[in-house]
Amino acid sequence: RLELRCERAGAELRLDAHPALAVSRAALLPPPGGPGDAAGQALPVESRPFASYGSALHIALPQAPRAGQLLTLLIDYEAGEGPGVCWLSPEQTAGKQKPYMYTQGQAVLNRSFFPCFDTPSVKFTYSATVKVPEGFTAVMSATSWEKQKDNTFVFKMSQPIPSYLIALVVGDIVSADVGPRSRVWAEPCLIEAAKKEYDGVIEEFLEVGEKLFGPYVWGRYDILFMPPSFPFGGMENPCLTFVTPCLLAGDRSLVDVIIHEISHSWFGNLVTNATWGEFWLNEGFTMYAQRRISTEVYGLPYTCLEAATGRALLRQHMDATGEDHPLNKLRVVIEPGFCLFLGVNPDDTYNETPYEKGYCFVSYLAHLVGNQSKFDAFLQAYVNRFKFQSITADDTLGFFLEYFPDLKEKGVDSIPGFEFDRWLNVAGWPPYLPDLSPGQQLMRPADELAELWAADGLNMEAIEAVDIMGWRTYQLVYFLDQVLQKSPLPEGNVERLSKMYPKISKAQNAELRLRWCQIVLKNNLEAEYSKVKDFLHSQGKQKYTLPLYRAMWGGSEATRALAMEIFSATAPQLHVNVQNYVKKILGLGGAE
Ligand code: BES
Ligand code: ZN
Repeated sequence: RLELRCERAGAELRLDAHPALAVSRAALLPPPGGPGDAAGQALPVESRPFASYGSALHIALPQAPRAGQLLTLLIDYEAGEGPGVCWLSPEQTAGKQKPYMYTQGQAVLNRSFFPCFDTPSVKFTYSATVKVPEGFTAVMSATSWEKQKDNTFVFKMSQPIPSYLIALVVGDIVSADVGPRSRVWAEPCLIEAAKKEYDGVIEEFLEVGEKLFGPYVWGRYDILFMPPSFPFGGMENPCLTFVTPCLLAGDRSLVDVIIHEISHSWFGNLVTNATWGEFWLNEGFTMYAQRRISTEVYGLPYTCLEAATGRALLRQHMDATGEDHPLNKLRVVIEPGFCLFLGVNPDDTYNETPYEKGYCFVSYLAHLVGNQSKFDAFLQAYVNRFKFQSITADDTLGFFLEYFPDLKEKGVDSIPGFEFDRWLNVAGWPPYLPDLSPGQQLMRPADELAELWAADGLNMEAIEAVDIMGWRTYQLVYFLDQVLQKSPLPEGNVERLSKMYPKISKAQNAELRLRWCQIVLKNNLEAEYSKVKDFLHSQGKQKYTLPLYRAMWGGSEATRALAMEIFSATAPQLHVNVQNYVKKILGLGGAE
């Protein structure tokens, strides 16, 4: 049931939908309290081609609506095997006993879950009644929920949100409290590990976030641990973040993902990019907010270390795609406009640029202000000014200059080489990089150790003098990125490294496993190819999966064969988008 208000007299009604949505009926309901048939007046519906990622549902209204007119529409439909609704067999869950279903809306997948205006420029509240079979629980991204009789759950989201933030999970899941407004959800076999990972730590992140960016408006903040094939590290569904089970590292070392998703509570979920061409407004500001919270909680050195690993990802991404690739702009052109089928699928623009170049741009704005508390105050005013709205970078930058009139006076938006316009519209490496030197105390030992391992004759005495046992996970990650950058290492070095540091080569931590697998492939360490296979069988996160297939496909005949072998075994358990991206890498004619 859609409740619509007509913006423009005589407007046509066209909704986003998908060939996988089977619409059986659309009807116009009588105004509430007014006369008329409760089943409504049936309307002609037609599905027309729109783009590779969805179709347009044209609904003919009986007469041209007036501006401001309220319309209530009832659409009967069935959602099947669309990309937004994932149906998992018992084998694809952690417990392996019961099936599981989840939805993933961002960016443009929810049009295969329900017909809607599937654009982040439109916000609305929603409610849902979900009936599930006995033994299952439903959860949604909603501010309130209630279990009624007959396994029926009723949800209500009382704040306006964009379509991509509606999310539903049905599975054999249970919950445990981890804070005054937070609980973790997971399959029963994972709930203890989930509680242990985050018990007592979430509230502090929320409190610091509120202190920095203003009130947390979503009521609860819960975390749902997804099955291993979930394609993202985290997804900021309001009130209920979805995360990969890879975060269950046992030592909270991957908590930056949680801080990131919490940061979306202000940047993304409250102040939202109006189009997917300005996705950096969501992710770049969120990276900045994440690192502000991290700085308050864990200090500047650690946060700079984490940011340095982010910068390494941006370097790798730009090296792989070419700095001047059109996706390496902050503002991306989604639709060229002359042909719908040549438009870019917003989901294909997901890469490191909006995150890490976006982070650099926000850091540059902070640098222009030159005072952290003044910039923090600006961020809070920005959230307050644009909360519950969808905006463009012009709104953001206009507000920045309005908030700091002396900077506007000085013309900071047009300093040669750093023009705001260049930041937004020119591809390439960020013109300004924030100073990460406070992290040097943590990075230097890792840099030095990587140097030692890259040398021709290994200086084992110097290597053995370094004790990595006390290093934080992100120091090891940083070290491995340096080793990867210097790879292939001289013959034999990686084997020795592997033997010397089982903490790395036998790690269970997903971030370490990813880097170790990349090093194994870059150095053709055949003896450890099985680790790549094991890792890709154990999870399906896009940011882990694609780099490994790219490395295998760009390697030897043996690694290409390995890629084919792993893909044919794991394809059915990957998210359909990830499947298609892998197919494209392997030349198997995947979509787009
Ligand atoms: N909103 C994103 C995930 C996403 C992006 C889903 C685009 C669909 C389309 C989420 O907030 C995110 O950025 N997750 C990161 C976390 C990381 C940057 C700490 C991830 O999954 O790796
Ligand atoms: Zn994000």
